[in-house]
Amino acid sequence: MIDPEVQKSRSTTFEINPIIVNRWSPRSFEPSEISDKDLFSLFESARWAPSSSNSQPWRFIYAKRDSKNWNDFFSFLVDFNKQWCANASALVVIISRKNYENNGQPSLTHQFDTGAAWENLAIQAVSQGLTTHAMGGFDYAKAKATLEVPDDYDVLAMVAIGKRGPKDKLSPELQARETPNTRKPLSEIVMDGKFGNKAKSL
Ligand SMILES: Cc1cc2nc3c(=O)[nH]c(=O)nc-3n(C[C@H](O)[C@H](O)[C@H](O)COP(=O)(O)O)c2cc1C
Repeated sequence: MIDPEVQKSRSTTFEINPIIVNRWSPRSFEPSEISDKDLFSLFESARWAPSSSNSQPWRFIYAKRDSKNWNDFFSFLVDFNKQWCANASALVVIISRKNYENNGQPSLTHQFDTGAAWENLAIQAVSQGLTTHAMGGFDYAKAKATLEVPDDYDVLAMVAIGKRGPKDKLSPELQARETPNTRKPLSEIVMDGKFGNKAKSL
């Protein structure tokens, strides 16, 4: 079932599994711990994503709140993200291997593959009553250096994970944005046979 809060702003043109629209990226978190069981189920879901030649280029480096590494992870974030990430239960840096392990050839699809893994994780989180929020607003070079990421991996994104908290704990500016957003119409993103050709049923 589509969540009533989500239903206020999101509707689908064709029927899909509601968990897909129920995933969105809130910024208010409860400052609670996350168990390894809950967190590792998310990584387990990411593990089962498809990838080119089953190369599985994704890697996840995490820090739980109150862990010794939390402050390092938090320090990577731009100020805008710091203001709402402080209550997250875990921060994850997602990296991706740029070349194939078996032959060293560059992978043209590693980011595509790791993107699929991230979405698995985000959807699994919804099913566990958790929320995720991906971020590109952080210092990539600092994350790479601090986490000692080898050169054959790209740092792609960070993700905040946690239990959703009350909206009124956010600043007024962020409260105004704390709502599920919409999407471009299908007619803009789907093309029949050739770029720019609209599908008849859209
Ligand atoms: C790669 C990536 C980077 C993002 N960077 C940020 C960010 O730095 N800060 C932020 O508040 N949201 C960030 N977002 C969240 C997007 O704005 C959000 O996913 C998008 O507006 C769609 O909304 P939804 O996730 O609620 O469906 C990022 C999302 C992705 C996938």
